[in-house]
Amino acid sequence: MSMNSKSLIISPSIIAGDLSTIGRDVAGFDNTVINMLHMDVMDGNFVPNLTFGPGFIKNLKNHTNIPLDIHLMIEKPENSLEKYIEFKPEYITIHYESTRFPARSLKLIRENGIKSGIALNPATPVESVFDLIEYCDMILIMSVDPGFYGQSFMTGAISRIRKLKEYIISADFADVKIQVDGGISEDNIKEVVSAGAEVIVAGSSLFKGGDINQGALKLKKAALG
Ligand code: DX5
Ligand code: ZN
Repeated sequence: MSMNSKSLIISPSIIAGDLSTIGRDVAGFDNTVINMLHMDVMDGNFVPNLTFGPGFIKNLKNHTNIPLDIHLMIEKPENSLEKYIEFKPEYITIHYESTRFPARSLKLIRENGIKSGIALNPATPVESVFDLIEYCDMILIMSVDPGFYGQSFMTGAISRIRKLKEYIISADFADVKIQVDGGISEDNIKEVVSAGAEVIVAGSSLFKGGDINQGALKLKKAALG
């Protein structure tokens, strides 16, 4: 798979950082290596954990120009989508499993000039989104069951990414990007990128290292080296 450092996007999952100081911390993020900020919105219902909502995102936006990548792990996202659209993030991703009407939300996201994403839990067959691809700019293959950072990578994600990539190419949707999220580190990033992922979320592996900019650079090197 041909890939260069420009087409590889690193999106740190900020819940793995210290949310009490993250506003100050993001000011030091270098936007040449940190390409997006991954915002995990959890409602304590779709997933067994609660993080933050629009109020927090609104405040964080005042501290950074790095584009936002909003990952909604909430039941029935159609009920609160407008609140996230307001922030004009780069991406809004909803979960396939969270709604009976994914296409309606994906269309609404796009109509507002935002890139649309759909996420698949590890237990959801990748074929489930084949009929939705025309409404998507990105498909998120979860490599953990969502809800918490710091979980270990599920290796089944590799063949899922490969299968999805093959479909994307064969069906002529080459602009649709594959994102991977959960347990990504220097040890497995090369494998997911070789399989076809271009947008890489990393939480604990980046934040536990201390220097986020150095960590992201190391991830990029490991992916392409
Ligand atoms: C899991 C979240 C992930 C997670 C990533 O529900 O969607 O974004 O925070 O963190 P790590 O990289 O530690 O798995
Ligand atoms: Zn996420």
